[in-house]
Amino acid sequence: MEKFETIPAVRHYLKEERRRGKSVGLVPTMGALHQGHVELIRQSKNSTDTTVVSLFVNPIQFNSPEDLENYPRDVVQDLELLAREAVDVVFIPDEREMYPEAVITEFDFGPMEQILEGQFRPGHFNGVGIVVSKLLHIIQPDDAFFGQKDLQQVTVIRRLVRDLSFDTRVVTVPTVREANGLALSSRNRRLSKEGGDTASLLHQTLLFCQDELLKGGDWLSIKKQAINQKLRPASIEPEYLEMVELNRFSLISRPMSGVPYALCIAAFIEKIRLIDNIVIGEE
Ligand code: PAJ
Repeated sequence: MEKFETIPAVRHYLKEERRRGKSVGLVPTMGALHQGHVELIRQSKNSTDTTVVSLFVNPIQFNSPEDLENYPRDVVQDLELLAREAVDVVFIPDEREMYPEAVITEFDFGPMEQILEGQFRPGHFNGVGIVVSKLLHIIQPDDAFFGQKDLQQVTVIRRLVRDLSFDTRVVTVPTVREANGLALSSRNRRLSKEGGDTASLLHQTLLFCQDELLKGGDWLSIKKQAINQKLRPASIEPEYLEMVELNRFSLISRPMSGVPYALCIAAFIEKIRLIDNIVIGEE
């Protein structure tokens, strides 16, 4: 496994790889790696010759200093996992390497970032857009892999790649879950055992909503029922529980026939903010 900490070094290595005709896959991460990340890596290894994993806790996508400070970090364990998965290249820059000076370029993803994560984490998608653009320019991957777990993120990135004509195919990988349904997340490390059980209610609630919708129920009453009967009894007050159509990623209040849609939730459990979603009607 090759490990690079600087932009010129990783660029130089990948230029050689490409000259030898190798295709390149990129898996961008912020570390504290888990099976969800591993799934992205496996897909990259299956479809490209050289898999690059980037490991960088991107400060500019955090909208609160405490959240950045508390974000789990475990570089030693991460590097062990990446070696075990036979990743070809790790790119692990520090903050000075990525941001030698404050970035003044800004992204505004319009209506796509005015809802859900964008609404509750102002500036978050600008930070994601900047770091992903930099990584795509540095690595120039044929394919880049993102998890459905962060549905709005991958939607925004797909749009960014189209809008700016990046020569990269964006691949979405389905959400990897615990046996109890809890979506794997680096933040889960901070949950107690009981917190992990409670957090599985997020997925259970989404499944309940999906069932009721498919039975023809009305979204607003289903949502009320989900909050009052599933979440509140476990003292979970969701930040949002919304339905979005996937073509434009806009809020809807009833499914539209033939258009795939998703149910998305964000909630704090033991002061840790978790998100989850399920996609319905996608072939
Ligand atoms: P991070 O949270 O480390 O996630 C890295 C990638 O793993 C993302 O594409 C995310 O959607 C995916 N992922 C996380 N949990 C998953 C799960 N349970 N199943 C499948 N995929 C999962 O997302 C980020 O980092 C950052 O915003 C980043 C894109 C690296 C930019 O800084």
